[in-house]
Amino acid sequence: MGHVMLGAARLDAPRRLVDVWVLSPLGVLPEVQGRGLGTALVAHALEAAGRTGVPLVFLEGDPAFYGPRGFSRASVLGFRSPSLRIPDPAFLVHVLGSHEPWMTGTLVYPEPFWALDCVGLRDPDEGG
Ligand SMILES: CC(C)(COP(=O)(O)OP(=O)(O)OC[C@H]1O[C@@H](n2cnc3c(N)ncnc32)[C@H](O)[C@@H]1OP(=O)(O)O)[C@@H](O)C(=O)NCCC(=O)NCCS
Repeated sequence: MGHVMLGAARLDAPRRLVDVWVLSPLGVLPEVQGRGLGTALVAHALEAAGRTGVPLVFLEGDPAFYGPRGFSRASVLGFRSPSLRIPDPAFLVHVLGSHEPWMTGTLVYPEPFWALDCVGLRDPDEGG
């Protein structure tokens, strides 16, 4: 009916690298959308993330959907995105209880995000 995944990534903080999660992908089958499943999957993922002791969950997504479900604009909180192709309003973060003030910096995606070229948006009008 639906699927959500937490993938391991790193935050390049000034003090040291910090293990973080990226919530991606999230999907609900079209025939059962609009019944709260997506909301429940996000809540479940955040609860599971909290139990791991990791301080932050990042994602790329629509702030209209994720804002009411616990995510804030990451740049406002001092985080830098892994790509200039991620629109600033879509670079979102959920701060968990184990977060400490020094844990800021640049989100570093793991290799599969680049291997699958699924980071940010591409401009089809750009040459190449
Ligand atoms: C986005 C998605 C996971 C939501 O799942 P869902 O089970 O329909 O979500 P819920 O029933 O819990 O919540 C419905 C809300 O999601 C909103 N919504 C649905 N699809 C949306 C989309 N593509 N962008 C923004 N909001 C969306 C609905 O407008 C509704 O808003 P409301 O709560 O203000 O009324 C589902 O529509 C989906 O799988 N879409 C295709 C894949 C996708 O876009 N995944 C997200 C990638 S970041």
